[in-house]
Amino acid sequence: MSANPLDNKAQAWSALFSEPMSELVQRYTASVGFDKRLWRADIDGSLAHAEMLAAQGIIGASDLADIRRGLAQIAQEIEAGRFEWKLELEDVHLNIEARLTQLVGDAGKRLHTGRSRNDQVATDVRLWLRGEIDGLAVLLADLQRALVELAAGHTDTVMPGFTHLQVAQPVSFAHHLLAYVEMFARDGERLADLRRRVNRLPLGAAALAGTSYALDRERVARTLGFEAVSRNSLDAVSDRDFALEFAAFASIAMVHVSRLAEELVLWMSQAFGFIDLADRYCTGSSIMPQKRNPDVAELARGKAGRVVGHLMALLTLMKGQPLAYNKDNQEDKEPLFDTVDTLRDTLRILAEMVGGIVVKADAMERAARRGYATATDLADYLVKKGLPFRDAHEVVAHAVKVAMQQGVDLAELPPATLQGLHPLIGADAAEVLTLRGSMAARDVIGGTAPAQVRSQIERHRQRLGAG
Ligand code: ARG
Repeated sequence: MSANPLDNKAQAWSALFSEPMSELVQRYTASVGFDKRLWRADIDGSLAHAEMLAAQGIIGASDLADIRRGLAQIAQEIEAGRFEWKLELEDVHLNIEARLTQLVGDAGKRLHTGRSRNDQVATDVRLWLRGEIDGLAVLLADLQRALVELAAGHTDTVMPGFTHLQVAQPVSFAHHLLAYVEMFARDGERLADLRRRVNRLPLGAAALAGTSYALDRERVARTLGFEAVSRNSLDAVSDRDFALEFAAFASIAMVHVSRLAEELVLWMSQAFGFIDLADRYCTGSSIMPQKRNPDVAELARGKAGRVVGHLMALLTLMKGQPLAYNKDNQEDKEPLFDTVDTLRDTLRILAEMVGGIVVKADAMERAARRGYATATDLADYLVKKGLPFRDAHEVVAHAVKVAMQQGVDLAELPPATLQGLHPLIGADAAEVLTLRGSMAARDVIGGTAPAQVRSQIERHRQRLGAG
């Protein structure tokens, strides 16, 4: 066999170049340090490409056999940690191709027929991301299941519902938790939807214009499980909107995570005292012996920042790039990888943490009693007796003022005092002023009445399955 041109890359790219890259420029332009993570997708893509080349008679059957044998050995070497990644070979693609040629000779040099690293890298990233998407979908469902099962025990546990972080109306703890289930369910829908656009095959676009070989792109797509082939070669090698969409999905999911994490932190504080988190998710202080800090929840909240940052990095990377491929796109990988890693770890840890929450129902109920949370119910009571809502609102404002002066809740005002505020207030008003009476009254689809919340729990259980 003839010499492997890739072996000379340390000196210069090809016969065209008269001087080598400096060490600094090599380091600056190389991506192998991070894109080696794509190795399996790179090998799968190469196998599918080579099989198609052979089927189309573009390479011989013995070339295909050599390529298969060589790539199988490379996969083994990488898995065993024995593969020698070389910075001077720039990226995962050239490293694997050079080793293949070292192992099997000319067949290795034929693999790149009808292909460019431009469509190769776009294929690799899509293949890799598709696998990660499927893993994340499972984790999103796990988190929802953990929240639903915690909720199932708390459809009658009253807590204050807040607006402006001021006590507003009583809600069940289950109802509050299910709000997050809805958010994560929508995240799951977004993920499933964007997966369809990730799952398109760029291979065959070659460098930018397509290729003069009679490639069977549909066959490669089938082999790799892609739903369709790209329809414009310039677009296929250059746009990264599938990564942007994924990062946008991940950012929204992390923003949801950050809201839940923030509530866990608040609820665990002494001022709220609504829950306790298991010790294994908390840390102590090196100076204050009494401290147990909800570090894991705080970090989950904080990590939303870096994922949103990655979305900004990717958007900015893409902005203003002329067609078609530009080396800028090599910069898509680290933000994308870190987005996946951060979201994956966060979802996993949050699902575990939620499963271990200790609920302090008494403290929740006491807090609900402190903020005149049933004032709206008294107003609604008067409206149902015929008073216009605005007048009822005013009457209740007086009632709250009196209760505040006496330092009691509305439900604790003597019946005579209540009735003195308006002649329409009868003895039956007392019931609507209880926290549970208020919750039970909100018996509309999506409301906090225990019967409604129980039916939502059933719906979620059906939807999510056993897991
Ligand atoms: N490492 C490159 C990337 O991540 C692969 C494509 C290189 N293509 C090129 N024309 N230099 O984008």
